Amino acid sequence: MKPVKVGICGLGTVGGGTFNVLTRNAEEISRRAGRHIVIEQIGMRSDNPTCDLSGMQTTTDIFEVATNPEIDIVVELIGGYETARDLVMTAIENGKHVVTANKALIAVHGNEIFEAAQNKNVMVAFEASVAGGIPIIKAIREGLAANQINWLAGIINGTGNFIMTEMREKGREFADVLQEAQALGYAEADPTFDVEGIDAAHKLTILSSLAFGIPLQFNKAYTEGISRITPQDIRYAEELGYRVKHLGITRRTDKGIELRVHPTLIPKDVLLANVNGVMNAILVDGDAVGQTLYYGPGAGAEATASSVVADIVDVVRTLTADRDNRVPHLAFQPSALSDAPVLPVEATTSAYYLRLQAVERPGVLAYVTRILGEKGINIEAIIQKQTTEAQVPVIMLTQRVEERMMNEAIREIEALPDILGEIVRIRVELLAD
Ligand code: HSE
Repeated sequence: MKPVKVGICGLGTVGGGTFNVLTRNAEEISRRAGRHIVIEQIGMRSDNPTCDLSGMQTTTDIFEVATNPEIDIVVELIGGYETARDLVMTAIENGKHVVTANKALIAVHGNEIFEAAQNKNVMVAFEASVAGGIPIIKAIREGLAANQINWLAGIINGTGNFIMTEMREKGREFADVLQEAQALGYAEADPTFDVEGIDAAHKLTILSSLAFGIPLQFNKAYTEGISRITPQDIRYAEELGYRVKHLGITRRTDKGIELRVHPTLIPKDVLLANVNGVMNAILVDGDAVGQTLYYGPGAGAEATASSVVADIVDVVRTLTADRDNRVPHLAFQPSALSDAPVLPVEATTSAYYLRLQAVERPGVLAYVTRILGEKGINIEAIIQKQTTEAQVPVIMLTQRVEERMMNEAIREIEALPDILGEIVRIRVELLAD
């Protein structure tokens, strides 16, 4: 049978890794795919590739790859939003299948891209867009197809997890660890995408659609970064038996879908709390299987290439399958997508860690607990740190409550004359049910 011809656009970290894995493991890969896979052309900007391109056809015009009549599969590894979108749409218009590692592209333009692909009878595969080398998309879309997924929670940004781990284990400063993560090549070109939760929200948007069969709605995701987490809060959380992780959480509720990325206290002894450094992990709760956990490298040249190449193999295997028998892009048949709303964060529910700075005076806490009581907020634990100062930090854990009630309570407590400054609030998830 004729070999399948691939064009790679972008020869940076992931592109170089993909080239190396595809060439090094060519024989083994063709035994799995049932066809030989050859790299026909590479579109790249750099004159200094990280791999040996001798004998390769290269071009600096990536659109030449997307329109090359010889090419069956275009692999988009340039990243970013607009040029990547134009490239992928051009490839689809030209009847090419597409493999991409681009989470921003899928989260923001995925609905339009999948519709175009459906009309042209081509596939768009995007395993590498979420959690690098972890086959989480395949797991949710195929392995868990029997389940009603209740919720999933993931550490899906390696840079953020690396920073939180170093801050907790070594007491290092936020900015210093971020610099190291950038030097190690984990961080996005714009590292605010990592630390403000945008990268994680891209990935969570994709996972949420796959889990619940809803269109991609990145603009409805709530994002909160880690730059305001202090070593002090990390220590207090430890004292209470919790660890602070930057989590992406999506949950099906009676009212709609929660879609949120924020720092979260989780019990110290759950597996997710022990995922450290740059590693990623996603915990999925399904009604039939219960909880399953997927762990592995979320970034890196060959780890991400592992997912890119697996997608190429998938596309090759299904080249002969008719379109109605392919795995749908968003796990559910396009005509069966649900219109369940994505909830605003005020309508989501969680428990809370609160840290407030109170004047050391009898009766102050009574005012605070009265306000919480009036809003129906149950206190789970309370610690007042000993001090010789005139003011004292008070740390509280509450039970679950709708966020709008907590917002009201915080506003009223901050207005008390004996409460100083802003209250620090971090959501808490037990990840139990
Ligand atoms: N910047 C991302 C991370 C890389 O830190 O996880 C993989 O998407």
